[in-house]
Amino acid sequence: MTFLDEGFQPFGGAIWLEDTFVYQSGVPHMSLPPLSHRAQKTPASPIRRLAGLAQAAEERGTKVYRLNIGQPDLLSPREFIDGIARYNEQVVAYETSQGNRALIEAWSESLNAQYGIGVSEQQMLITMGASEALIFTFMVCCDPGDEILIFDPTYANYIGFSAISGVRLVPLPCSIERKFPIPTRAEIERFISPYTRAILLCNPNNPTGTVATDEELRMLLDVCRERDLYLIVDETYREFVYDGRLPRCILELAGKDPRVVVIDSLSKRFSLCGARIGCMITWNEEVRKAAFHIAQARLAAPTIEQSAAAHMIRTVSSDYVASAHAEYLSRRNAAVDALSKISGVVTHAPEGGFYLLAKLPVVDAEDFAQFMLTDFSYQGATTFVAPAAGFYMRREDGLSTIRIAFVLKESDTREAIRILGEGLAAYNQGTGRR
Ligand SMILES: Cc1ncc(COP(=O)(O)O)c(C=O)c1O
Repeated sequence: MTFLDEGFQPFGGAIWLEDTFVYQSGVPHMSLPPLSHRAQKTPASPIRRLAGLAQAAEERGTKVYRLNIGQPDLLSPREFIDGIARYNEQVVAYETSQGNRALIEAWSESLNAQYGIGVSEQQMLITMGASEALIFTFMVCCDPGDEILIFDPTYANYIGFSAISGVRLVPLPCSIERKFPIPTRAEIERFISPYTRAILLCNPNNPTGTVATDEELRMLLDVCRERDLYLIVDETYREFVYDGRLPRCILELAGKDPRVVVIDSLSKRFSLCGARIGCMITWNEEVRKAAFHIAQARLAAPTIEQSAAAHMIRTVSSDYVASAHAEYLSRRNAAVDALSKISGVVTHAPEGGFYLLAKLPVVDAEDFAQFMLTDFSYQGATTFVAPAAGFYMRREDGLSTIRIAFVLKESDTREAIRILGEGLAAYNQGTGRR
């Protein structure tokens, strides 16, 4: 099904499709030129796919607990809002393509203070979120048709980035029953082909919650050195590791290895998803320069947000991230505990991040997730979860699985999962369908 098929109206008008505004041209579909293959291959986000149904449920007066998306409810740091207020220019001009200098300085200093990795302006490029950094990295490190190895299930938008850049993602299957371990060296090497250019690791992982050990990180580095590949590490959730694990930046182990590209973001660490600030860090001068040229073509990331972020990083207390960490830990524990009370659910406590996958006793988790929004409510409320098939390159491996983002406060997380359990019982008994 193509993007237009989902919301097609044959004779014009404007419609809302998920949260995207689509203007129909007023001429019949058949007379339009075709979409590019790239456009047709870019999937709708599995996270936002059912958003319209959630909105309709709310319009019917149902309270919807949103566990579908990694949008934290924690307040952004006051220091960021203050930074916005301090912006005092008469013209909101373009920032430089590399990014606000004060932000690069503040960010690199804080990374160096925490991880001792010695990065500076020369290694960093500010991007519109980790998302843009990933797109740049795919485009710089690969030609269309080249391959990147990923561990499946994976962050769903990597699939979108691969469609945009023409890169083929090669999935190495990881199973929920084995708690999604990083594949072994032998397993990885089996998937390397003459087209492989990189291994992409999300650490801590969205959606599995797996955190790589130092041994696993060293093994990945070794494979990349031996097979001449890039190692791209998405550290969007770096600080959120639990059970005694310490946050790890790959550059602590890799040093100045030019094969490594780190992707970072302020979105989750500081509850700043809408500020759209991320960065790409690499000691590889050629990669950084090529990414910089792409960055020049898109001109710049937002000026005011970068300026506010620079102020925030310089002034925010380390207590902010520490208390966010404590909050996510308590939510994780609440989510795992609440799920353990629902019979037939397979899950485990994620080691990091703020997501977990749960296999449900259903054949089609997407149908169940829809049912929760269209046909079910419990005491006036329902729960919105993301069907996990869209996080699997091998969709069939994730058909019974959902992803839960533990981004709501502990009591809401417990209540949302209790309602999920009630919904599951109704769904499997065939009751509750309108
Ligand atoms: C693993 C991962 N990488 C990247 C991103 C994108 O982050 P940003 O908001 O910085 O673009 C997300 C967002 O959910 C994510 O989960």
